[in-house]
Amino acid sequence: MPKSVRDITSMKGSKKITVITAYDYTTAQLCDKAGIEILLVGDSGGMVMLGYDNTIPVTMEQMCFFTEAVGRGRQNAMVVADMPFMSYQASKSQAIENAGRLVKAGADAVKLEGGIEIKDTVRSIVDIGIPVMGHIGFQPQTTTLQEGYKVQAKTKDAALNLIQNARTLEEAGAFSIALEMVTREVSKIITESISIPTIGIGSGPDCDGQVLVVHDVLGLYEKIKPKFAKRYLELAGDIVKAVTSYKNDVVSGKFPSQEHSFSIDKAELERLRKEIA
Ligand code: KIV
Repeated sequence: MPKSVRDITSMKGSKKITVITAYDYTTAQLCDKAGIEILLVGDSGGMVMLGYDNTIPVTMEQMCFFTEAVGRGRQNAMVVADMPFMSYQASKSQAIENAGRLVKAGADAVKLEGGIEIKDTVRSIVDIGIPVMGHIGFQPQTTTLQEGYKVQAKTKDAALNLIQNARTLEEAGAFSIALEMVTREVSKIITESISIPTIGIGSGPDCDGQVLVVHDVLGLYEKIKPKFAKRYLELAGDIVKAVTSYKNDVVSGKFPSQEHSFSIDKAELERLRKEIA
């Protein structure tokens, strides 16, 4: 039975919430098997799956495609899908319609980047019954346009602003908030100032949960290696090694061997040869 919003919110203060991104059926199945509580269909999929330089080009169609695959792979985890850039900013009705599309594709909740400026949008999505995860701190969809990757909440005023944003999202009905690249001390203060769980990425150990991009955890994505992402494997190197061995085996004739081939019955083969002759 997939985790519900209540299952997730009740973990605050008692058990850490584990979140990882997934964009396809197989990865979703494996991460679900590992006991992860939330599979995040992040718009980071635009970068690690589709090769964009950032998340701005990601479309609703692509997010629905990823979400359908992840939905088919999960058994117990909640599926949260990112609303991509310009899928909710134009109007509340645009936001509601697109949140609905993601839910129809298999998401249990949606995630939106932004704070006070999107509070009415968050409220209107929550009001129609779709759970919302907020996302503040570094916001890849827009911060990249202004200042690039930068740690957030390094000054008192920036921290106060972020705390206010978190409180506003909670008031607007969000069930949790992702905090990206926020100084660990300010993440702790935010986590203690709101009653919904915070999910940190590059925001220190005191958040209620943690999220990482699965390609970083597995060491698959080489283009950007964020300081905050712990690489538990270096699969990129292993994949290149394995594919090189495959290539060499094909070229040398070592693969496929008898073990990887199928045979026709001897008598049947004899009859075939006679007929051809
Ligand atoms: O798209 C994504 O992977 C995310 C995480 C960085 C939180 O939004």
